[in-house]
Amino acid sequence: MYHSRTLRQVAFCLAAGAAFICFFTSLGRTESPAKIASDRLLYHTDPEHLWNRLHDAIFVRVGPDGRAYGHDRLEPLLWRKSKHLIEAPSNKRTVSLLEEFLNNKGEKLIDDPLKRAMLQRDLWLVFTWLEGDHWLDNEVKEEELRAARERLRLPLATVISRLALTRDQIERLPDNYAAAVASGEFAKQFDPKHPDTPYLPADLFDTDGPWVCLGRPDGPIAPTHLRDDGTNVFTNSAFLLFLRLPAGRAATVDYLQRLRAFDQPLWIEVGNAKYPVEKYLPNPKIPTFPVGTEVALLRRALLVASPTAPIATALTESVQLRVYREIPEITAPTITAGLVSGTADSRRAQSWQSFHEFQLSRSLLFAGRAGGLRAIGPKERDFPIPFALSYRDEFEDHESGSNDQPFSERSQHPILETCFVCHSFPGIASFNSYFNFRMHLDESNIGAQPFSLFEMSVSKVEDAAVKSKEGRPHWTSLRKLLAE
Ligand code: HEC
Repeated sequence: MYHSRTLRQVAFCLAAGAAFICFFTSLGRTESPAKIASDRLLYHTDPEHLWNRLHDAIFVRVGPDGRAYGHDRLEPLLWRKSKHLIEAPSNKRTVSLLEEFLNNKGEKLIDDPLKRAMLQRDLWLVFTWLEGDHWLDNEVKEEELRAARERLRLPLATVISRLALTRDQIERLPDNYAAAVASGEFAKQFDPKHPDTPYLPADLFDTDGPWVCLGRPDGPIAPTHLRDDGTNVFTNSAFLLFLRLPAGRAATVDYLQRLRAFDQPLWIEVGNAKYPVEKYLPNPKIPTFPVGTEVALLRRALLVASPTAPIATALTESVQLRVYREIPEITAPTITAGLVSGTADSRRAQSWQSFHEFQLSRSLLFAGRAGGLRAIGPKERDFPIPFALSYRDEFEDHESGSNDQPFSERSQHPILETCFVCHSFPGIASFNSYFNFRMHLDESNIGAQPFSLFEMSVSKVEDAAVKSKEGRPHWTSLRKLLAE
């Protein structure tokens, strides 16, 4: 029944955590130079304004095709192997811009709290990346990395703190999700007749509405998205998870209770094969939810407040939604359809769910358009996101990929097609927040316990995210630098 060679490859990919590199194809916008020029005026109408120059020094990368990328991307184009900001020219340029900022009281040049919040958010991401592990090749020596880091970290931390808003100011930042819904630019609910039409649920935050906000008593929501243990994640965010069964709130709460009461193994052994993917299946007895069930994952920025503390905000950075349109039984063939790409079964499996994503655009946010949220188009591409276990810097490693494709295609992948890579199993088996998804399948994960999910208030879920941030080494080092 299994095509064992393909499965072996899948097993390798999964075991190496490389499934996401094998399949992964996410991409940022590819823009014409003219478009880039107008976007350059992100913080101020003067392209030479210090804030514009600082932003560009970090975000804009030039591809081997001579085009500029990443200007308004959610994350800076930085990976674990990036030399950008480490190698002398970009390191020195950024340090000198940060020093110009400090010497000229750059924080006083713009006092729009939203712009301050965004610039701080972006610089804090760079700080978190800088403090993480770097895998540099022999061209960059360990001492060079250390020196580059030392040059950058103090001015970076100081600018982050100069931009800090007070708790009160942060609480008064606009709720851009609400603004996006109110703008009327997007459908307000899923339409089964048009499953690919992007929608932003208008009632997502209604405390008595059909969407139930979920939390874990033992840690933050979305631990995989927050992980920074040797992979390439540098998120400074709180994640909010919502579940909505078609029969409404009471049915959703009841379902959660049944899920928590399930006390049998998550995986059952079905064969005696060598690789876990051939040997185990998700337990078909796990309570399932009906067709029409929707899940949403909101990512909202944390900011560094004054006095120094990480604090949750209502600034939505992205919204991901999935709707279950078909829920086949969990069987060896349906699991294979989710794992082995390129087959007719796999293509069919891709329509079991409909996938949607919205991302924050600074230029739209500052222009007051739809809360800055924009729907990702069906063919839109992006470079691997930090979460995708991708280490390579596409702009520096020109040997990568086949050269018969343009850079913009070979190094970027269609965002909405990548969702299936990690959410390909039928029904509950693709609900990763329950399944304690570990990015790879090996014997230790087979024994994993599911996460216990409870109905929880948004503020409690945020408290858990803040607490988790306070425990991270990069937070400790930021705090120490600011206390010196
Ligand atoms: C690299 C793997 C990966 C990719 C690609 C991915 N996700 Fe997820 N997703 C996860 C994990 C893991 C979780 C569980 C939260 C955690 O632990 O971080 C999750 C959680 C979610 C949730 C909350 C419900 C759940 O299943 O837990 C939604 C909604 C979601 N993802 C939508 C999407 C959409 C839409 C896309 C594509 C735009 C996507 N995801 C791409 C791994 C992935």
